[in-house]
Amino acid sequence: MKTRVAIIGSGPSGMLLGQLLLNAGIDNIIIERKDPDYILSRIRAGVLEQGTVDLLREAGVGARMDEEGLIHDGFKVAFDGRSEHIDLKALTGGKTVMVYGQTEVTRDLLQTRKGAGGLSIYDADDVQPHGLQSDKPYVTFVKNGETVRVDCDYVAGCDGFHGVSRQSIPADKIKVFERVYPFGWLGVLADTPPVDEELIYARHERGFALCSMRSPTRTRYYVQVDAQEKVEDWSDERFWGELKSRLPEDVANRLVTGPSIEKSIAPLRSFVVEPMQYGRMFLLGDAAHIVPPTGAKGLNLAASDVNTLYRIMVKVYKDGRTDLLSKYSEICLRRVWKAERFSWWVTSMLHNFAGTDSFSQRIHETELDYFVSSETGRKSVAENYVGLPYESID
Ligand code: APR
Ligand code: PHB
Repeated sequence: MKTRVAIIGSGPSGMLLGQLLLNAGIDNIIIERKDPDYILSRIRAGVLEQGTVDLLREAGVGARMDEEGLIHDGFKVAFDGRSEHIDLKALTGGKTVMVYGQTEVTRDLLQTRKGAGGLSIYDADDVQPHGLQSDKPYVTFVKNGETVRVDCDYVAGCDGFHGVSRQSIPADKIKVFERVYPFGWLGVLADTPPVDEELIYARHERGFALCSMRSPTRTRYYVQVDAQEKVEDWSDERFWGELKSRLPEDVANRLVTGPSIEKSIAPLRSFVVEPMQYGRMFLLGDAAHIVPPTGAKGLNLAASDVNTLYRIMVKVYKDGRTDLLSKYSEICLRRVWKAERFSWWVTSMLHNFAGTDSFSQRIHETELDYFVSSETGRKSVAENYVGLPYESID
Protein backbone atom coordinates (compact mmCIF):
# COMPACT_ATOMS: atom_id res chain seq x y z
CA MET A 1 0.00 0.00 0.00
CA LYS A 2 1.08 3.58 -0.55
CA THR A 3 -0.13 6.91 0.83
CA ARG A 4 1.16 10.37 1.61
CA VAL A 5 0.55 10.41 5.37
CA ALA A 6 0.32 7.19 7.39
CA ILE A 7 -1.62 7.98 10.56
CA ILE A 8 -1.12 5.63 13.51
CA GLY A 9 -4.15 5.68 15.84
CA SER A 10 -7.81 6.47 15.27
CA GLY A 11 -8.58 8.62 18.31
CA PRO A 12 -9.66 12.26 17.94
CA SER A 13 -6.13 13.36 16.87
CA GLY A 14 -5.74 10.80 14.10
CA MET A 15 -9.27 11.17 12.73
CA LEU A 16 -9.35 14.97 12.80
CA LEU A 17 -5.97 15.17 11.06
CA GLY A 18 -7.08 12.53 8.56
CA GLN A 19 -10.28 14.41 7.75
CA LEU A 20 -8.61 17.79 7.25
CA LEU A 21 -5.91 16.24 5.03
CA LEU A 22 -8.52 14.31 3.06
CA ASN A 23 -10.52 17.50 2.45
CA ALA A 24 -7.32 19.18 1.22
CA GLY A 25 -6.68 16.33 -1.21
CA ILE A 26 -3.78 14.89 0.83
CA ASP A 27 -4.21 11.14 0.79
CA ASN A 28 -3.84 9.29 4.13
CA ILE A 29 -4.45 5.91 5.75
CA ILE A 30 -5.33 5.44 9.43
CA ILE A 31 -3.94 2.32 11.12
CA GLU A 32 -5.62 1.47 14.44
CA ARG A 33 -5.09 -1.51 16.74
CA LYS A 34 -8.65 -1.63 18.12
CA ASP A 35 -12.11 -1.57 16.49
CA PRO A 36 -14.59 1.35 16.17
CA ASP A 37 -16.85 0.01 18.95
CA TYR A 38 -13.97 0.08 21.40
CA ILE A 39 -13.03 3.60 20.29
CA LEU A 40 -16.60 4.77 20.90
CA SER A 41 -16.84 3.12 24.30
CA ARG A 42 -14.32 5.47 25.90
CA ILE A 43 -15.82 8.27 27.98
CA ARG A 44 -13.56 11.29 28.02
CA ALA A 45 -13.87 15.00 28.74
CA GLY A 46 -16.38 17.35 27.20
CA VAL A 47 -15.30 20.99 26.97
CA LEU A 48 -14.24 22.35 23.56
CA GLU A 49 -12.32 25.60 23.14
CA GLN A 50 -13.39 28.02 20.39
CA GLY A 51 -10.31 27.01 18.33
CA THR A 52 -11.30 23.32 18.53
CA VAL A 53 -14.90 24.15 17.58
CA ASP A 54 -13.71 26.17 14.57
CA LEU A 55 -11.34 23.40 13.47
CA LEU A 56 -14.10 20.75 13.70
CA ARG A 57 -16.34 23.00 11.59
CA GLU A 58 -13.52 23.53 9.08
CA ALA A 59 -13.10 19.75 8.85
CA GLY A 60 -16.81 19.44 8.04
CA VAL A 61 -17.67 17.54 11.23
CA GLY A 62 -19.36 20.34 13.18
CA ALA A 63 -23.03 19.95 12.19
CA ARG A 64 -24.25 17.78 15.10
CA MET A 65 -21.99 19.65 17.54
CA ASP A 66 -23.60 22.93 16.47
CA GLU A 67 -27.05 21.42 16.90
CA GLU A 68 -26.59 19.53 20.17
CA GLY A 69 -23.58 21.16 21.84
CA LEU A 70 -24.17 23.57 24.71
CA ILE A 71 -22.44 26.95 24.55
CA HIS A 72 -21.21 27.96 28.00
CA ASP A 73 -20.47 31.61 28.72
CA GLY A 74 -18.94 30.87 32.10
CA PHE A 75 -18.38 28.42 34.96
CA LYS A 76 -18.43 28.50 38.76
CA VAL A 77 -15.78 27.89 41.37
CA ALA A 78 -17.03 26.83 44.82
CA PHE A 79 -14.84 26.93 47.93
CA ASP A 80 -15.00 28.01 51.53
CA GLY A 81 -18.80 28.23 51.43
CA ARG A 82 -18.61 30.66 48.47
CA SER A 83 -19.50 30.25 44.84
CA GLU A 84 -17.71 32.56 42.40
CA HIS A 85 -18.75 33.02 38.80
CA ILE A 86 -16.10 33.19 36.05
CA ASP A 87 -17.85 35.02 33.23
CA LEU A 88 -15.74 33.78 30.32
CA LYS A 89 -17.56 35.84 27.72
CA ALA A 90 -17.24 39.16 29.54
CA LEU A 91 -13.65 38.52 30.66
CA THR A 92 -12.32 37.50 27.23
CA GLY A 93 -14.14 39.95 24.98
CA GLY A 94 -16.78 37.50 23.80
CA LYS A 95 -15.16 34.05 23.84
CA THR A 96 -17.04 30.99 25.09
CA VAL A 97 -16.60 27.20 25.24
CA MET A 98 -18.77 24.40 23.86
CA VAL A 99 -19.85 21.48 26.04
CA TYR A 100 -19.99 18.46 23.73
CA GLY A 101 -18.61 15.04 24.70
CA GLN A 102 -15.41 13.72 23.19
CA THR A 103 -17.24 10.45 22.51
CA GLU A 104 -19.64 12.38 20.25
CA VAL A 105 -16.77 14.20 18.52
CA THR A 106 -15.25 10.78 17.85
CA ARG A 107 -18.57 9.41 16.53
CA ASP A 108 -18.93 12.38 14.15
CA LEU A 109 -15.33 11.94 12.93
CA LEU A 110 -15.80 8.20 12.33
CA GLN A 111 -18.98 8.78 10.33
CA THR A 112 -17.55 11.61 8.26
CA ARG A 113 -14.46 9.60 7.36
CA LYS A 114 -16.61 6.65 6.34
CA GLY A 115 -18.79 8.91 4.21
CA ALA A 116 -15.77 10.52 2.56
CA GLY A 117 -14.30 7.14 1.69
CA GLY A 118 -11.15 7.60 3.82
CA LEU A 119 -9.32 4.33 4.45
CA SER A 120 -9.02 3.20 8.07
CA ILE A 121 -7.59 -0.19 9.00
CA TYR A 122 -8.84 -1.48 12.35
CA ASP A 123 -7.69 -4.44 14.44
CA ALA A 124 -4.14 -3.96 13.14
CA ASP A 125 -1.62 -5.87 15.27
CA ASP A 126 2.04 -5.10 15.84
CA VAL A 127 1.95 -1.67 14.18
CA GLN A 128 5.52 -0.41 13.63
CA PRO A 129 6.92 2.73 11.96
CA HIS A 130 10.23 2.31 10.05
CA GLY A 131 12.83 4.39 8.20
CA LEU A 132 11.84 7.57 10.00
CA GLN A 133 15.20 9.24 9.40
CA SER A 134 15.12 8.39 5.69
CA ASP A 135 13.02 10.06 2.99
CA LYS A 136 11.12 6.79 2.49
CA PRO A 137 9.45 5.95 5.77
CA TYR A 138 6.90 3.15 6.03
CA VAL A 139 4.60 1.51 8.54
CA THR A 140 4.05 -2.22 8.91
CA PHE A 141 1.28 -4.08 10.71
CA VAL A 142 -0.19 -7.55 10.91
CA LYS A 143 -3.78 -8.10 9.81
CA ASN A 144 -5.42 -11.54 9.62
CA GLY A 145 -2.02 -13.13 10.11
CA GLU A 146 -0.38 -11.31 7.20
CA THR A 147 2.19 -8.52 7.40
CA VAL A 148 1.16 -5.42 5.45
CA ARG A 149 3.47 -2.55 4.48
CA VAL A 150 2.32 1.06 3.95
CA ASP A 151 4.86 3.29 2.18
CA CYS A 152 4.41 7.00 2.88
CA ASP A 153 5.98 10.47 2.88
CA TYR A 154 5.28 11.15 6.55
CA VAL A 155 4.05 9.30 9.66
CA ALA A 156 1.63 10.95 12.12
CA GLY A 157 1.92 9.33 15.57
CA CYS A 158 -1.61 9.78 16.95
CA ASP A 159 -1.64 6.63 19.06
CA GLY A 160 -2.07 8.05 22.54
CA PHE A 161 0.06 7.78 25.66
CA HIS A 162 0.67 4.02 25.39
CA GLY A 163 1.21 3.98 21.63
CA VAL A 164 4.12 2.66 19.62
CA SER A 165 5.08 5.94 17.90
CA ARG A 166 6.78 7.67 20.82
CA GLN A 167 8.28 4.34 21.92
CA SER A 168 9.99 3.92 18.55
CA ILE A 169 12.08 7.05 19.07
CA PRO A 170 15.53 6.21 20.55
CA ALA A 171 15.55 7.23 24.22
CA ASP A 172 18.58 9.51 23.78
CA LYS A 173 16.76 11.56 21.14
CA ILE A 174 13.91 12.74 23.37
CA LYS A 175 13.48 14.31 26.76
CA VAL A 176 10.55 13.44 29.00
CA PHE A 177 9.00 15.79 31.58
CA GLU A 178 6.57 14.17 33.97
CA ARG A 179 4.59 14.63 37.15
CA VAL A 180 2.32 11.95 38.56
CA TYR A 181 -0.26 13.17 41.10
CA PRO A 182 -1.07 11.13 44.20
CA PHE A 183 -4.78 10.98 43.34
CA GLY A 184 -7.24 10.23 40.57
CA TRP A 185 -10.73 11.26 39.51
CA LEU A 186 -13.67 8.94 40.06
CA GLY A 187 -16.18 9.83 37.35
CA VAL A 188 -19.87 8.93 37.02
CA LEU A 189 -22.09 9.37 33.99
CA ALA A 190 -25.83 9.48 34.71
CA ASP A 191 -29.09 10.28 32.96
CA THR A 192 -30.07 13.04 35.35
CA PRO A 193 -30.61 16.77 34.76
CA PRO A 194 -27.53 18.94 35.46
CA VAL A 195 -27.47 20.48 38.94
CA ASP A 196 -26.58 23.86 37.43
CA GLU A 197 -26.60 25.39 33.99
CA GLU A 198 -22.84 25.88 34.24
CA LEU A 199 -19.96 23.63 35.30
CA ILE A 200 -19.04 23.83 38.99
CA TYR A 201 -15.43 23.23 40.09
CA ALA A 202 -15.35 22.72 43.88
CA ARG A 203 -12.45 22.82 46.29
CA HIS A 204 -13.19 21.11 49.61
CA GLU A 205 -11.15 19.73 52.49
CA ARG A 206 -12.46 16.24 51.59
CA GLY A 207 -11.10 16.76 48.07
CA PHE A 208 -11.95 18.26 44.70
CA ALA A 209 -15.33 17.74 43.00
CA LEU A 210 -16.63 18.70 39.55
CA CYS A 211 -20.20 18.95 38.27
CA SER A 212 -20.22 18.68 34.49
CA MET A 213 -22.72 17.59 31.86
CA ARG A 214 -23.13 16.15 28.41
CA SER A 215 -26.64 17.40 27.59
CA PRO A 216 -29.73 18.79 29.38
CA THR A 217 -30.52 15.21 30.45
CA ARG A 218 -27.08 13.66 30.95
CA THR A 219 -24.54 14.56 33.63
CA ARG A 220 -20.89 13.81 34.35
CA TYR A 221 -19.67 14.21 37.93
CA TYR A 222 -16.24 13.64 39.43
CA VAL A 223 -14.70 13.40 42.89
CA GLN A 224 -11.00 13.32 43.74
CA VAL A 225 -9.99 9.92 45.19
CA ASP A 226 -6.70 8.40 46.34
CA ALA A 227 -4.66 6.87 43.52
CA GLN A 228 -5.09 3.36 45.02
CA GLU A 229 -8.91 3.48 45.22
CA LYS A 230 -10.82 0.72 43.39
CA VAL A 231 -13.96 1.54 41.43
CA GLU A 232 -15.64 -1.65 42.80
CA ASP A 233 -15.57 -0.06 46.26
CA TRP A 234 -17.70 2.84 45.07
CA SER A 235 -21.41 2.06 45.01
CA ASP A 236 -23.58 4.75 43.39
CA GLU A 237 -24.87 5.63 46.84
CA ARG A 238 -21.37 6.17 48.21
CA PHE A 239 -20.45 8.29 45.20
CA TRP A 240 -23.47 10.60 45.46
CA GLY A 241 -22.97 10.97 49.20
CA GLU A 242 -19.33 11.91 48.76
CA LEU A 243 -20.09 14.35 45.94
CA LYS A 244 -22.80 16.10 47.96
CA SER A 245 -20.50 16.43 50.97
CA ARG A 246 -18.05 18.45 48.85
CA LEU A 247 -20.55 20.84 47.25
CA PRO A 248 -22.07 24.03 48.69
CA GLU A 249 -25.23 23.17 50.64
CA ASP A 250 -27.70 24.73 48.19
CA VAL A 251 -26.12 22.87 45.28
CA ALA A 252 -26.06 19.56 47.19
CA ASN A 253 -29.74 20.02 48.10
CA ARG A 254 -30.86 20.39 44.51
CA LEU A 255 -28.60 17.65 43.07
CA VAL A 256 -30.67 14.96 41.35
CA THR A 257 -29.11 11.50 41.69
CA GLY A 258 -29.77 8.36 39.67
CA PRO A 259 -28.18 5.08 38.60
CA SER A 260 -24.73 5.45 37.04
CA ILE A 261 -24.38 4.40 33.40
CA GLU A 262 -20.57 4.51 33.55
CA LYS A 263 -18.17 4.74 36.44
CA SER A 264 -14.38 4.79 36.24
CA ILE A 265 -11.24 6.10 37.92
CA ALA A 266 -8.68 8.04 35.89
CA PRO A 267 -5.20 8.74 37.24
CA LEU A 268 -3.88 12.30 36.98
CA ARG A 269 -0.62 12.97 35.19
CA SER A 270 1.31 15.80 33.54
CA PHE A 271 3.64 14.59 30.78
CA VAL A 272 5.47 16.21 27.86
CA VAL A 273 7.98 14.79 25.41
CA GLU A 274 10.43 17.02 23.54
CA PRO A 275 10.77 17.30 20.64
CA MET A 276 7.44 16.17 19.17
CA GLN A 277 9.15 15.07 15.97
CA TYR A 278 11.65 12.42 14.96
CA GLY A 279 12.74 12.60 11.33
CA ARG A 280 9.60 12.16 9.23
CA MET A 281 7.38 11.18 12.17
CA PHE A 282 5.33 13.78 14.06
CA LEU A 283 3.70 13.13 17.45
CA LEU A 284 0.25 14.56 18.12
CA GLY A 285 -2.14 14.60 21.09
CA ASP A 286 -1.72 12.15 23.95
CA ALA A 287 1.25 10.49 22.21
CA ALA A 288 3.22 13.66 23.00
CA HIS A 289 1.61 15.12 26.11
CA ILE A 290 -0.86 14.45 28.90
CA VAL A 291 -2.52 17.00 31.17
CA PRO A 292 -4.57 16.43 34.31
CA PRO A 293 -8.23 16.98 33.29
CA THR A 294 -8.84 19.92 35.65
CA GLY A 295 -8.27 22.56 32.96
CA ALA A 296 -10.24 20.61 30.30
CA LYS A 297 -7.27 20.85 27.94
CA GLY A 298 -6.55 17.26 26.75
CA LEU A 299 -8.66 17.12 23.59
CA ASN A 300 -8.10 20.81 22.91
CA LEU A 301 -4.32 20.38 22.90
CA ALA A 302 -4.69 17.44 20.53
CA ALA A 303 -6.73 19.70 18.22
CA SER A 304 -4.10 22.44 18.29
CA ASP A 305 -1.36 19.94 17.32
CA VAL A 306 -3.60 18.79 14.46
CA ASN A 307 -4.14 22.40 13.41
CA THR A 308 -0.38 22.99 13.27
CA LEU A 309 0.54 19.81 11.38
CA TYR A 310 -2.38 20.16 8.97
CA ARG A 311 -1.46 23.74 8.03
CA ILE A 312 2.19 22.77 7.60
CA MET A 313 1.26 19.77 5.42
CA VAL A 314 -0.94 21.91 3.17
CA LYS A 315 1.97 24.31 2.62
CA VAL A 316 4.37 21.40 2.02
CA TYR A 317 2.17 19.78 -0.63
CA LYS A 318 0.78 22.94 -2.26
CA ASP A 319 3.81 25.28 -2.09
CA GLY A 320 6.76 22.94 -1.50
CA ARG A 321 7.43 24.55 1.90
CA THR A 322 9.35 21.61 3.40
CA ASP A 323 11.30 24.14 5.51
CA LEU A 324 8.23 24.36 7.78
CA LEU A 325 8.46 20.70 8.82
CA SER A 326 11.27 21.33 11.29
CA LYS A 327 9.17 24.06 12.97
CA TYR A 328 6.30 21.70 13.93
CA SER A 329 7.63 20.74 17.36
CA GLU A 330 8.63 24.20 18.56
CA ILE A 331 5.31 25.72 17.45
CA CYS A 332 3.32 23.00 19.24
CA LEU A 333 5.44 22.98 22.38
CA ARG A 334 5.03 26.71 23.03
CA ARG A 335 1.27 26.20 23.33
CA VAL A 336 1.53 22.76 24.98
CA TRP A 337 3.64 24.12 27.85
CA LYS A 338 1.22 26.98 28.49
CA ALA A 339 -1.66 24.48 28.74
CA GLU A 340 0.51 22.20 30.93
CA ARG A 341 1.17 25.15 33.24
CA PHE A 342 -2.52 26.07 33.45
CA SER A 343 -3.62 22.46 34.04
CA TRP A 344 -0.99 21.91 36.74
CA TRP A 345 -1.87 25.22 38.40
CA VAL A 346 -5.63 24.71 38.58
CA THR A 347 -5.01 21.14 39.77
CA SER A 348 -2.76 22.45 42.58
CA MET A 349 -5.29 25.07 43.67
CA LEU A 350 -8.39 22.90 43.64
CA HIS A 351 -7.21 19.52 44.99
CA ASN A 352 -6.41 18.31 48.44
CA PHE A 353 -2.77 17.24 48.58
CA ALA A 354 -2.73 15.00 51.65
CA GLY A 355 0.49 15.27 53.58
CA THR A 356 1.33 18.74 52.25
CA ASP A 357 2.39 21.09 54.99
CA SER A 358 -0.19 23.52 56.34
CA PHE A 359 1.66 26.51 54.89
CA SER A 360 1.37 25.15 51.33
CA GLN A 361 -2.33 24.39 51.89
CA ARG A 362 -2.97 27.99 52.94
CA ILE A 363 -1.01 29.28 49.94
CA HIS A 364 -3.20 27.22 47.56
CA GLU A 365 -6.38 28.49 49.26
CA THR A 366 -5.13 32.06 49.10
CA GLU A 367 -4.11 31.73 45.47
CA LEU A 368 -7.60 30.55 44.58
CA ASP A 369 -9.19 33.34 46.62
CA TYR A 370 -6.95 35.93 44.94
CA PHE A 371 -7.45 34.71 41.38
CA VAL A 372 -11.24 34.52 41.55
CA SER A 373 -11.68 37.75 43.55
CA SER A 374 -9.54 40.04 41.41
CA GLU A 375 -10.57 41.17 37.92
CA THR A 376 -7.00 40.60 36.68
CA GLY A 377 -6.95 37.11 38.20
CA ARG A 378 -10.32 36.18 36.69
CA LYS A 379 -9.15 37.45 33.29
CA SER A 380 -6.08 35.23 33.46
CA VAL A 381 -8.14 32.16 34.38
CA ALA A 382 -10.69 32.92 31.64
CA GLU A 383 -8.14 33.56 28.88
CA ASN A 384 -6.51 30.19 29.57
CA TYR A 385 -9.79 28.30 29.95
CA VAL A 386 -11.22 29.44 26.61
CA GLY A 387 -7.87 28.56 24.99
CA LEU A 388 -4.81 30.58 24.05
CA PRO A 389 -4.59 31.60 20.38
CA TYR A 390 -3.05 29.36 17.70
CA GLU A 391 0.17 30.58 16.07
CA SER A 392 -0.08 31.32 12.38
CA ILE A 393 2.02 29.14 10.10
CA ASP A 394 4.09 31.10 7.61
N1 APR B 1 -1.03 0.94 16.97
C1 APR B 1 -2.17 1.49 16.46
N2 APR B 1 -3.04 2.20 17.18
C2 APR B 1 -2.75 2.38 18.48
C3 APR B 1 -1.59 1.85 19.09
C4 APR B 1 -0.72 1.11 18.27
N3 APR B 1 0.39 0.57 18.78
N4 APR B 1 -1.58 2.21 20.38
C5 APR B 1 -2.70 2.94 20.59
N5 APR B 1 -3.41 3.04 19.46
C6 APR B 1 -4.69 3.72 19.26
C7 APR B 1 -5.64 3.59 20.43
O1 APR B 1 -6.38 2.38 20.37
C8 APR B 1 -6.53 4.82 20.26
O2 APR B 1 -7.65 4.55 19.45
O3 APR B 1 -4.45 5.12 19.14
C9 APR B 1 -5.62 5.83 19.56
C10 APR B 1 -5.20 6.97 20.47
O4 APR B 1 -6.32 7.73 20.82
P1 APR B 1 -6.38 8.62 22.16
O5 APR B 1 -5.76 7.90 23.28
O6 APR B 1 -7.79 9.07 22.29
O7 APR B 1 -5.40 9.86 21.83
P2 APR B 1 -5.63 11.15 20.93
O8 APR B 1 -6.31 10.83 19.64
O9 APR B 1 -4.33 11.88 20.91
O10 APR B 1 -6.71 11.98 21.73
C11 APR B 1 -6.41 12.90 22.69
O11 APR B 1 -7.98 11.89 24.15
O12 APR B 1 -7.18 10.93 26.09
C12 APR B 1 -7.83 12.01 25.57
O13 APR B 1 -7.26 13.76 27.03
C13 APR B 1 -7.06 13.20 25.79
O14 APR B 1 -8.79 14.38 25.08
C14 APR B 1 -7.52 13.98 24.69
C15 APR B 1 -7.62 13.09 23.54
C1 PHB C 1 -16.09 16.50 31.63
O1 PHB C 1 -17.23 16.92 31.37
O2 PHB C 1 -15.82 15.30 31.55
C2 PHB C 1 -15.07 17.48 32.10
C3 PHB C 1 -15.37 18.83 32.08
C4 PHB C 1 -14.41 19.74 32.50
C5 PHB C 1 -13.20 19.30 32.94
C6 PHB C 1 -12.89 17.94 32.94
C7 PHB C 1 -13.84 17.02 32.52
O3 PHB C 1 -12.28 20.20 33.39
